[in-house]
Amino acid sequence: MCGERIMNDVRHLIGLDEMTKQWWDALYSRCCDIIANPSDYTESCRGKVLATMFFEPSTRTSFSFQSAVQRLGGGTFGFSDPLGTSVTKGETLADTIRIVASYADTVVIRSPQEGSAAAAALYSDVPVINAGDGGHFHPTQTLADLATIARKRGSIGDIRVGLCGDLKYGRTVHSIVEALALFPGVSFDLISPQELRMPDYVLKQMRLRGQDFTETERFEESIPKLDILYMTRIQRERFHSSAEYRRLKGVFVLKKSLLKNAKRDMLILHPLPRYGEIDPEVDSDPRAVYFEQARFGMFIRMALLLDFMHLPKLPPPPLAGDKDSPKCQNPACVTQTEAYLTQLSSGSSSIRCRFCDKEIE
Ligand code: CP
Repeated sequence: MCGERIMNDVRHLIGLDEMTKQWWDALYSRCCDIIANPSDYTESCRGKVLATMFFEPSTRTSFSFQSAVQRLGGGTFGFSDPLGTSVTKGETLADTIRIVASYADTVVIRSPQEGSAAAAALYSDVPVINAGDGGHFHPTQTLADLATIARKRGSIGDIRVGLCGDLKYGRTVHSIVEALALFPGVSFDLISPQELRMPDYVLKQMRLRGQDFTETERFEESIPKLDILYMTRIQRERFHSSAEYRRLKGVFVLKKSLLKNAKRDMLILHPLPRYGEIDPEVDSDPRAVYFEQARFGMFIRMALLLDFMHLPKLPPPPLAGDKDSPKCQNPACVTQTEAYLTQLSSGSSSIRCRFCDKEIE
């Protein structure tokens, strides 16, 4: 069984800006059917192959994708460390993706570089799925988050969501605010120290979309008001200064005592891995759903792969870009190392990088 294509106009999943409520509803419905009737899907991707390119460590995303495709009857190959590949000989991302795509039906890519999945998609004749590009986006984690909320609450709208921790580098929170714009009555408490506030480019988009949010450092005061508490890890690997990381780690720790005044049906989510920000004593609280969240991630990725793995190979459109356009200054942007990548020309004085979304002067 394969099922109807859900995301008709979407060939790659880089961010969630193209997501519609209609395709979410269809994807989630398929996910629930997979959970209820897994044996109906065991041949759905027979003969298909998924490639996983992980330039950065992963447990959940990598293994859940591998498990997902195997449960659909397909195969998988890939790497969890580029040290074993010809990237170490200086091969570009563009050439690497061309080769990997020629062996696969869909490519999943994770990289520390922001915009890397968008760059890869320019050179791929099969679908590319962003499994996390630096501190930018992590769309399939958001699909797992939405599935968890929907399964546990029955619906997604009319909720107050507290996003807590490292909102600067935490790619999962950048993706979830974008997706939650599709649902009515969602407001946000953005709980972080000043140094780790939600980046301006995300806040700007939230304002443009009319999303309701408050920035705060008062973790304990927010908790009783929340329907969803989404904890995140301080992203040590993205800090430029280890002293700064040490100063900020442990800034917010969820302990059992803090849940005394929380709503009885509040959900505690975390994309995981955690590193001290949720005390293990919270794990036994019925509101703590982060391990189930990781499992839902596998089922929603199965639903997603069903949409992508059967697409025919299609040569990517001719490359567009202006080699004289201004360069992105974001040191984490993929354009810093893949120098052949160019911006689209723009008449305005201020443009957004087409890869990492940061503003370019
Ligand atoms: N949530 C998440 O992306 O976890 P991994 O880094 O283990 O894939």
